[in-house]
Amino acid sequence: MTKKLTLAHVPTPLWRHDRLDALVGCEVWVKRDDLTASGAAGNKIRKLDYLAAEALERGATTLVTCGGQQSNHARATAIVAAELGLRAVLLLRTVNPETPPPVVGNLLLDYLVGAEVRFITPVQYRERDALMAGVARELSARDERVYVIPEGGSNGLGSLGYVDAMAEVRAQLDSGLADGTRSFDAVVHACGSGGTAAGTTLGARKYGIAPVTHAMAVCDDRAYFDAVIARIIGETAALDGSLDAHARPVVHDAWRGPAYGLPSAEQIAFIVEVARQTGLLLDPVYTGKALFGLSRLEDKPKRALFLHTGGIPGLLAQAEAFAAASLG
Ligand SMILES: Cc1ncc(COP(=O)(O)O)c(C=O)c1O
Repeated sequence: MTKKLTLAHVPTPLWRHDRLDALVGCEVWVKRDDLTASGAAGNKIRKLDYLAAEALERGATTLVTCGGQQSNHARATAIVAAELGLRAVLLLRTVNPETPPPVVGNLLLDYLVGAEVRFITPVQYRERDALMAGVARELSARDERVYVIPEGGSNGLGSLGYVDAMAEVRAQLDSGLADGTRSFDAVVHACGSGGTAAGTTLGARKYGIAPVTHAMAVCDDRAYFDAVIARIIGETAALDGSLDAHARPVVHDAWRGPAYGLPSAEQIAFIVEVARQTGLLLDPVYTGKALFGLSRLEDKPKRALFLHTGGIPGLLAQAEAFAAASLG
C-alpha cells in the first residue's frame, strides 16, 4: 500500500448553480477542490498527501520545489512543510531576479510560512530539475535531508491523489449527491503541469465517472501536454496495476489567453460575471481559463464535472486588472 497523509480536507462538495449552467451552456457540477484546505487549498494538496508522506518516510528535513513567481503548488508545498515541521526551499521563476516581484498573493503566503525563496530566470527555469538537484546537493552537504518535488507535484506518485479524487466522486455519485446517480459526459479541468490530467483521466476511467476528460492547457501546447501526460500516466499506472495505462485525456490549447498567467479581456469579464451571478470565485491563471474553455467547447457535454482546482491567491495578486473590471 502506498503511504498517504490526510492533509486534504475531503470529500470536497459537489456544487451546482442554475445561473452557472446558463453562463457555461450545460449542466455543470463543480467539484470544490478549492475547499481542500485553508491556505494550502487547491489541487496540489491531494498530490502532497502522497509526496509529503514519502518525504517523511525518507526522513526529509527540507522540501525543495519550483514554479512561477505566483505558483500555487509552491505555496501549498510551503504551507504543508510548515505544518509538518519541515523547511521549504522554492525556486521561483521571475523575469528579472534583480527586481523581485511584489510580495502579494501566493508569494506573500510563501514568505508568511517561512519558506526560503530563490528567484531564477525563465531561461534557468528550463533547467529546473538540474537546478533543484543542485540545491539538494548543496543542502545535503549541510546535513539537511532533502526531498525534491517536481514542478506542480506532477509525477506518478502525486497523480495518485487525483485517482483518489475520482474514487471520491464515485462514492458521491453512488450516494445520489449529483442529483441522482448518473455519471457525467466529461470531466473538465485546467492543465498546468499534467499531473491532475493524468490522475483524473486514470481515475475517471477506473471508476466510470465520465468517458472523456478535457484538460484545458494554460501554458504550452497540446503536443507538449500529450507527451507529458502520457509519461505521467505511465508512471502512475506502474504504481497501481488496476489503472489503464492507455487512457488519455483530450488536451485543448485554444483558451490559454495571451500568455501564461495573463487572461484575455473576455476571460476577465467571464470571471467577473461568474462571481456576480453565482458567488463562485475563479482564478485568472487556471480555473477561469478552464471554465471559459468549457463554455466555448464546440462539442459541449450535456452534463460536465468541472474540477475547481483552487488558485484564489493568484486572483488576489491581479488586483489591478480585476479592480478595473469590477469597478466598471
Ligand atoms: C489552481 C490550479 N489549477 C490547476 C492547476 C493544474 O494542475 P496540474 O499542474 O496538475 O496540471 C494548477 C497548477 O498548475 C493550479 O495551481
